[in-house]
Amino acid sequence: MAIKTIGILTSGGDSPGMNAAIRAVTRSAIYNGFGVKGVMRGYKGLVYNEIVDLHSQSVSNIIQQGGTILKTARCKEFATVEGRKAACDNMQAAGIDALVVIGGDGSLTGAGIFAREYNVPIVGLPGTIDNDLGGTDSTIGYDTALNTIMEAVDKLRDTASSHERLFFVEVMGHTAGYLALNSALATGAEAAIIPEMETEVDQLADLISNGFRKSKNSAIVIVAENPQTGGATALAERVKKEFPQYDARVTILGHIQRGGSPTAVDRILASRMGEAAIEALIDGQRNVMVGIENGKIVYVPFNRAIKHDKGINRNSLELVKILSI
Ligand code: F6P
Repeated sequence: MAIKTIGILTSGGDSPGMNAAIRAVTRSAIYNGFGVKGVMRGYKGLVYNEIVDLHSQSVSNIIQQGGTILKTARCKEFATVEGRKAACDNMQAAGIDALVVIGGDGSLTGAGIFAREYNVPIVGLPGTIDNDLGGTDSTIGYDTALNTIMEAVDKLRDTASSHERLFFVEVMGHTAGYLALNSALATGAEAAIIPEMETEVDQLADLISNGFRKSKNSAIVIVAENPQTGGATALAERVKKEFPQYDARVTILGHIQRGGSPTAVDRILASRMGEAAIEALIDGQRNVMVGIENGKIVYVPFNRAIKHDKGINRNSLELVKILSI
């Protein structure tokens, strides 16, 4: 069936650059003669029929805005057979023939199931600060979040240094350590604790005390959130118990990492990927996520994107150590 109207939705945790992606998808679709509809609140808008028309002007002046004008949600109903049936009925009633889904691994998993069940053409865009999707060097929002963390840690360094303190800074990342590792590199942190690597408190303390011995007057350890181990709070408690000589503090950056105006990198990424999503639908591609690898647009099957097989760069972890001696 020929595609006439394309629906766009943003789902899961918001990420800076989602608006730039909505703009790019909308305008590229209109440029190519398609009608465009916006689905509000992620899959919820499909299940509960909250669908609006999008025109070229609907997406004016949003490239610089964080968040998502389409709102977002984590939708439990879409995980049920009844929910997806309602979504399909509403989609058909609204005349939507294909979907562009902007979100992270949960959103693309849902897209894959829906596409298989109802034979809906869906193209995904990687929208998450976590960078935890395979088949793309970066996800939309990751660079902005990294910069937000960097600015916060630079500020913490001032106070850490003035008080000669040890700071444990917890950053997001879901189950991946990209934000922690690369923000540690960008801020000259003394260590990065990431879920991909086991942490020995002894090793960590050695590293920090070596730093202090070498007349460093502060230390910053970036810790990836980790509900299993308790993240920065638990780690700081252990270090404080075993090494009470350190004046340690914990800062949890939290949702501040998801907001703010997207960086140029994220705006460009979102614009290129948004246009590529429409190209993919025109070419008859289905069930793929748009990625960018080595500067080039690639199309990755949902199951590979979700597998998140790109791994962590161990050299970067080593580099954090080497550069903080
Ligand atoms: O996936 C984005 C993310 O910010 C993760 O880094 C974090 O674990 C999670 O979402 C937090 O989700 P919520 O906003 O639902 O608390």
